[in-house]
Amino acid sequence: MKLLKPFLFLMALGGATASMAQSTDEKIENLIKQMTLEEKVAMIHGNSSFTSGGVPRLGIPELVMSDGPHGVRPEHGRDWVLDKDVDDAGTYLPTGMSLAATWNKNLGYQFGRVLGSEANYRGKDVILGPGVNIIRSPLNGRNFEYLSEDPYLAAKMAVGYIKGVQDEGISACVKHYAANNEEVDRNTVDVHMSERALREIYLPAFKAAVIDADVNTVMGSYNKFRGEFATHNEYLVNKILKGEWGFDGVLMSDWGSVHNTKEALLKGTDLEMGTDLVLSSNSVSQTDASGKKLNKTVYDRFYLADPAIAMVKDGSVPESMIDEKVRRILRIMFKTNMIDAKRKKGEYNTKAHQDIALKVAEQSIVLLKNNKQLLPLKKSLKSIAVIGQNAVRENAMGGGSSQVKAKYEITPLQGLKNLLGNKTTINYAQGYKIARGQQADAKMIAEAVDVAKKAEVAIIYCGWTHGYDYSKWSDNAYDAEGTDKPDMNMPFGQDELIKAVLKANPKTIVVLMGGGPVDMRQWETQAPAILEAWYPGMEGGNALAKVIFGDVNPSGKLPLTFPKSLEDSPAHKLGDFPGKNGVANYNEGIFVGYRYFDTYKVEPAFAFGHGLSYTTFAYTDLKLASSGDSVKVSFSIKNTGKTAGDEVAQIYVSVPDSKIKRALQELKGFERVSLQPGEQKTVELVLPADAFKYFDEEKMDWAHETGDYAILVGSASDAIKLRGKIAL
Ligand code: BGC
Repeated sequence: MKLLKPFLFLMALGGATASMAQSTDEKIENLIKQMTLEEKVAMIHGNSSFTSGGVPRLGIPELVMSDGPHGVRPEHGRDWVLDKDVDDAGTYLPTGMSLAATWNKNLGYQFGRVLGSEANYRGKDVILGPGVNIIRSPLNGRNFEYLSEDPYLAAKMAVGYIKGVQDEGISACVKHYAANNEEVDRNTVDVHMSERALREIYLPAFKAAVIDADVNTVMGSYNKFRGEFATHNEYLVNKILKGEWGFDGVLMSDWGSVHNTKEALLKGTDLEMGTDLVLSSNSVSQTDASGKKLNKTVYDRFYLADPAIAMVKDGSVPESMIDEKVRRILRIMFKTNMIDAKRKKGEYNTKAHQDIALKVAEQSIVLLKNNKQLLPLKKSLKSIAVIGQNAVRENAMGGGSSQVKAKYEITPLQGLKNLLGNKTTINYAQGYKIARGQQADAKMIAEAVDVAKKAEVAIIYCGWTHGYDYSKWSDNAYDAEGTDKPDMNMPFGQDELIKAVLKANPKTIVVLMGGGPVDMRQWETQAPAILEAWYPGMEGGNALAKVIFGDVNPSGKLPLTFPKSLEDSPAHKLGDFPGKNGVANYNEGIFVGYRYFDTYKVEPAFAFGHGLSYTTFAYTDLKLASSGDSVKVSFSIKNTGKTAGDEVAQIYVSVPDSKIKRALQELKGFERVSLQPGEQKTVELVLPADAFKYFDEEKMDWAHETGDYAILVGSASDAIKLRGKIAL
């Protein structure tokens, strides 16, 4: 791959481009030649909370980074103190899990364009997203930022996102590389897994980011992998990322994930950020032994700062190691027009950006259940009871580093009011209180029961939260960085509330919000209608109201399995989450998410890929044709109902007579199709040779098994509509 990539590039673009590419390389080498060791080292470590050093005398600017992944983070200046009086309230997009629930690759691209454009406007060079870590457990506090339990879906959505960001001339940063699947002990946990699980489950989204999307930067994660910190990990970084995949961009650290100068120098870290956050927030000058003031800051104490200079000077590492890191940083600087060309200006808070936020939210909401077609509600309703603190909660500033100051945020209650105006009476009851240690509150439940009884229909907005007081980092909980959920049970007495309201008014719709599944066993059978709304961004309330009242036909599909109970989830069944004595063994191997539930016949509450619609779709005419190593698949979908709608058709591959242990089925393709009532469309796609391979641990390579392959087409992993067979 290393040699192939530039070769293909030159072949494809011809001689003129070849000389242009060369001249950029020459410019880079010329700059490096002119730089002192100190200047080079200034470029490979942070010199403020979110910048790394430049070389002003040579016209090399600082590299300015910002979170990510669903909006441009509030301004922190050069320290960690939130700036006041700056215009940093921007577009708050739905979070990663929401984006993945759209199963819309093109929307992934548009999402990335919004981020790239707003990052550009705000003077950023790198946006720290997308987060593509596999959702291994429902408890991971950052699942809401991530995409899926499935590597194929995660890869496809990440590629769109990255291309969108980078087409705006901004670098994307795919994170966190790799095996960062829990927040508890994230700085120390040592992750062990089989090579097959690594290659088939945990790496594909990163590989696609590098090979298919040409991502400019990758962020190394906090955890250890097979005994070595992931950010300076010979196997993950030098062998796989830079070796096998030919990554020629920048591997930056997570904020504080570098632990050793020599390892970082030798094992692939190109840029060290955020080390010792306490120190870096306090920019004190140092003095030498005689008390003489040195022109130094705490940043000079970073592992890839003064200690790196010392190592080159005493000959422990060659200066060429530093040159290579500088070369990579300069490469992305040229690619994003930071040095000798003009950048686009970018745009901020445009209607077009807000429309993308709305579209993602609309397409991401999943109709989990809809008995007797309770939904959509009629706008002629006279009265609705709206219950639950999540109906009025703004979430943009929650969750940790992904916090966004939103220009505005439409809450679910506001969305209903926007849609219905004054024609329907809406009575609100809080029902539960988001507060540390809060249990069911009898008085609040009684109030909720009262409004529910008096209304024709009740809607409860419940689920998770990013924590309590979002202005305090230390008040994070549940869906938040640095914490995992304690279990899958909704906090604050929400189950008691739902049960009481369902009794008071059987026409109650449960709207779940947050970063993934909750244990619904106490009330699921009694609830006639359930929607999953995730964290739907600044336009979320409008999107939800439109779905509830049928202006938008729901089309989101679950990007992860919703288990009935936590114990049903594979890592938990094996007792391997979050690990023991500092080690997490991923003993479930490749059997993550639906790969486990399907293969071991464990019935989930709602299966991977599930999502209902207000219309019905019929699948017919499956045709398969092999061409070389790949398979052409075509089939038809017809809207057989009375409402226009989108369907996400999913293509799974199964190997019934496989000699090796495989998952019952694996997602290898999907397509979102819009259909008017009665309309029929033919879907055609090609499953490439890779769709039929597994990772052979003995040969340490991808392998193809000769035999019959089943191609399954359906509307969910548990709703297969068409089956075909092909020998390969
Ligand atoms: C997070 C990263 C984030 C970085 C900078 C870290 O704590 O893990 O995802 O990009 O901080 O804010």
